[in-house]
Amino acid sequence: MASDLGIVRERVASARSLVVLTGAGISADSGVPTFRGSDGLWRNFRAEDLATPEAFERDARLVWEWYNWRRELIAPKKPNPAHTAVVEFERRCRQFWLITQNVDGLHRAAGSEQLSEIHGNIWKVRCTACGVVEENYDVPIRILPSCRHCQALLRPHIVWFGESLSAGDVACCGTALQSCDVLLVIGTSGVVYPAAGFASVAKEAGAFVAEINPDPTPQSGIVDISLKGRAKDVVPLLL
Ligand code: OAD
Repeated sequence: MASDLGIVRERVASARSLVVLTGAGISADSGVPTFRGSDGLWRNFRAEDLATPEAFERDARLVWEWYNWRRELIAPKKPNPAHTAVVEFERRCRQFWLITQNVDGLHRAAGSEQLSEIHGNIWKVRCTACGVVEENYDVPIRILPSCRHCQALLRPHIVWFGESLSAGDVACCGTALQSCDVLLVIGTSGVVYPAAGFASVAKEAGAFVAEINPDPTPQSGIVDISLKGRAKDVVPLLL
């Protein structure tokens, strides 16, 4: 009888349209802390003090200091074999889309091109007045940073709690999830919506859904196969 790993590998190899959804777990193997794991950021910091529009209005300096700390932490990190395997899926599958909740930029650094960074990117800033979005790799960024076009305050280009995904990302992810025949869900706790609902959307549209995670998640019960293990060990085996 074929192993679960063999079944998923076969499904990926024969997929006409493959979608990959990733969360902090895929970058854990690069040394980036997750949010809800034992070393998770939300175990040591309060999201409502640092990752909401209200927190930024209250104390922009504190929020920027926290993002500077995270920029310093992420800057030296490199993509791991799981990120590289995802790039290879993109090269091999005619229709491919990567949906990541990660803001660390490691998928792009690995070479992924067909992707939606639905929670934004820590290496981008957005003007609070004119809305222009620009790349910024300063470590640390000058606090408080201002827009070079209109001098207003810049904020991290991140989707904070209480904010919505961009309309473009919603449309793009919806189309990808509705039309894929295989969805791989890698390294997400599956508690933050809308991404937490993506496995159900794909499943209801008829896709084969597999999860790669060392721990069970709320989605484990609805996916076709759960592969237990670390992303860097399991994902390359699916090529
Ligand atoms: P979480 O920290 O909630 O979950 C990380 C998941 O990765 C858990 O299910 C772990 O079991 C799993 N994991 C840990 N190590 C792993 C490894 N080596 N390989 C594979 N999986 C591993 O992170 P997310 O689900 O990404 O929002 O969190 C979702 C959102 O909540 C984040 O995007 C962030 C946060 O608030 C924003 O930044 C806007």
